[in-house]
Formats: sequence, C-alpha cells, structure tokens
Amino acid sequence: MTTQVTALFDEIWQQYIDVTPSAKNIHQLLGNGSDIINDHVAYRTFNSAKVNLAKLATHLLAIGYTECGQYDFAAKKLTAKHYEHSDSTMPKVFISELRVEEFSAEIQEIIGNLVSQLPDDVSERSDFLYSGQLWNISSTDYQTLLATSEYAAWLSAWGYRANHFTVSINHLENYDDITVVNSTLKEAGYLLNTNGGEIKGDSEVKLEQSSTLADKAKVTFTDKEMEIPSCFYEFAKRYPLANGELYTGFVAASADKIFDSTNVKS
Ligand code: NI
Repeated sequence: MTTQVTALFDEIWQQYIDVTPSAKNIHQLLGNGSDIINDHVAYRTFNSAKVNLAKLATHLLAIGYTECGQYDFAAKKLTAKHYEHSDSTMPKVFISELRVEEFSAEIQEIIGNLVSQLPDDVSERSDFLYSGQLWNISSTDYQTLLATSEYAAWLSAWGYRANHFTVSINHLENYDDITVVNSTLKEAGYLLNTNGGEIKGDSEVKLEQSSTLADKAKVTFTDKEMEIPSCFYEFAKRYPLANGELYTGFVAASADKIFDSTNVKS
C-alpha cells in the first residue's frame, strides 16, 4: 500500500512544484540532493456535498489512512481533520473545508456557481486530489471572494491540489533546529510568513512550524489572466510526548497563522 501512497504523492508533488518552483529549489537546498520526508500535505475545499472534506478523505482511506484529529477555525469559518498512515514515513494529510453556509448570500452564490459546474461524481476521479481548477471563474468573482475570504479566493483559483507540502525537520540529515532552517532559507533569499512570528508553536505544544510566503503564478480567469499567490512550503519540527513517541497532531493556533501564507497582502 505504501507504493500506492508514494505514487499518489509523486503526482501531487509534480502538480505542486509546477506553480511553486521555490519548493523544488528549497527541497534541493535542505535535502542536499537526497529525498525528504514530508511531515504533511494540506488541502482546502468547500463543504458543499460534491467536494467536501469527506469526499477528499475517501481517496486517503482507500490507501491505508485513518482519521486522527479534528479542528475548528471559527474566524476563518473552517473545519479541518487530519489523517495518518500506519507507515509514519508517509505524509500526514491535513484537510480543511470552508463552511459556506456561514457566508453572505453573495459569497454563497459565487461558490454555488463554481460547484454547480462540476459533475456529481467529480470526487470519484482517480486524479481528484491533483485535478486542479475544474470550474470557470471571472476575475471579478475572484476579487469578491478575496475581499471576504482569502481561503475561498485561493480555492476558486487553484482548485484541487496541495496547498502546501511540509518538510519534516526531524528527518533531515543536515538540520535539526527550525531556527537554523529559517536562517538558511532567508540567506538564500526566500521570504518567510512572519504573521504570528516566524516560528509558530514551541516545544511546549510539541510542534514548531514555519513557512515561506506563497509563490506567484498566472491563473486564467474567464475575462483575463492574473498573477496571484499560488502555494507555499512549510517546515515542521515535532517533539516527543511523555511516552517517547513524537506528537502527531496539529496546533490550531499555529495552523490559523499558517493559512495566511497565501495572503495577497502579505
Ligand atoms: Ni501545514
């Protein structure tokens, strides 16, 4: 089953680096040519029945993943869950969904119009997790979403793809300290998300995370092309629990700030 998992994440990685070239370069910089273990991969979706969190998760449950944690982000109107594989070197997967019904009628209508363009069985596509933007959207609708929910705007433009991959610092050969990883990245000219501080979390909460700011890439809207934030790369260091095992969960307060790595204004 890990062959299937590896094959799936290879496809997702290729799609991701197409619009996130910095991740490919940082992968080389931190891994020094050797392979990197991913701590997790993150997804975004709407809670609409055709494409909700559970529909994405179906693809993971089929290859040996199990649900391991649930999270709520009230201000961003998101629900999230994380999934783990029995082989701990396979990436965890963090999936969030936007609670569409909590938004204004105007926003609900724009999102409803996107999802209505999809066939009912869209989530059954074997490539659903790397199928990209499957609907048409105008730049004005994108801007309307952006004014209310950066998350909704990003999803409307980029669709089904990894929002970020995350390097497991615990598994790097040449690095052990997130501060050193961050300074290596900054010296190489990369910009980090400083919202909530460069490092989110600490050894007390058993998880430290940092991330780059998203790259920019061109998206074709129905009326024009625009260059907008694409995806970012994240770095995670985990600390052991009392039983000696590394903590495997997520820290909601840190994830809340990580979401902002795709902000246009950052
Ligand atoms: Ni993450």
